[in-house]
Amino acid sequence: MKVLLTGANGFIGRNIAVALTNAGHHVKPVSRSHGIDFCHMQAEADWLPHLEGVDAVINSVGIIGESGSQRFEPLHTLAPAALFRACSQAGIRRALQISALGADETAFSTYHLSKRAADDCLRSLELDWFVLRPSLIYGRGGKSADLFMRVAALPLIPVIGDGRQELQPVHISDVVATVMQSLTSSETRQTLDIVGNETVTFAEWLQWMRRAQGLPRGRLLHVPLPLAMAFARLGRHFNPMLQPENLRMLQTGYWADVQRLEQFLGRMPLPVEPRLFFSDAMPEGSSS
Ligand SMILES: NC(=O)c1ccc[n+]([C@@H]2O[C@H](COP(=O)([O-])OP(=O)(O)OC[C@H]3O[C@@H](n4cnc5c(N)ncnc54)[C@H](OP(=O)(O)O)[C@@H]3O)[C@@H](O)[C@H]2O)c1
Repeated sequence: MKVLLTGANGFIGRNIAVALTNAGHHVKPVSRSHGIDFCHMQAEADWLPHLEGVDAVINSVGIIGESGSQRFEPLHTLAPAALFRACSQAGIRRALQISALGADETAFSTYHLSKRAADDCLRSLELDWFVLRPSLIYGRGGKSADLFMRVAALPLIPVIGDGRQELQPVHISDVVATVMQSLTSSETRQTLDIVGNETVTFAEWLQWMRRAQGLPRGRLLHVPLPLAMAFARLGRHFNPMLQPENLRMLQTGYWADVQRLEQFLGRMPLPVEPRLFFSDAMPEGSSS
């Protein structure tokens, strides 16, 4: 297949690109580094010339915080919606959207709402679609995973409140495996939450990250949510990930029922192991 892959040089996208190439598919990469900026791709006509000869489309462009011209509405909603409608027009049936866990009816953040708007657009089209909603993803080179690794290595580990927010982090291997399965599965038109098989508190997750870095368990610094939000308001000028909204999303947790993913993959997601924190997506069946 010839697969148009947006976000092809991002954390998720580059891992998908490797798996696609290894499976014998041809990747047509899209990103600003490949000369295509989503800010200028908001009409179907912008996409149609790029869709010639394409058999399937995967959208993995996204940002975790706004900065400069990088805004949620054009990147998460307008450009992907235009891409999906262009697929419909060009007769490309298979379209996969990398959304995010929490982009559902409970969404409150601009991040989740902008993702959900594109998901809704895709779900409204007569295509063989998949909306994939990963939890926090860990693995080599993920931006949020790297930030948490750095936080975990601090002498005093800051956590929000009691640090008992529930997470089900998932390894990049399971995300890529779900994407690859979605590309060929005959059971289309599915919204799938991609979560790991273990639920862990945020504080404990950071301790696991310490252990993976060869550090002993650390002491926690409990920061009340309002104070953490005030720090984030200052910090966002240095790192777009430090947004008060992101802390509120973290506060609500990242977890879901793993059963549907297990059925879809025909196996459970990978158990957490220290080496996986530093690993790219591994080919199916090679993890043991
Ligand atoms: N990582 C996670 O834990 C996680 C969890 C759940 C959901 N997600 C979602 O998955 C998606 C990808 O995440 P990621 O971790 O792979 O992010 P990433 O590593 O930051 O990659 C983002 C990708 O989007 C491209 N991009 C950014 N702005 C663009 C623009 N204006 N026009 C065209 N391309 C643009 C980037 O390439 P250029 O910079 O070269 O343009 C890059 O390829 C995001 O929507 C994210 O919200 C991620």
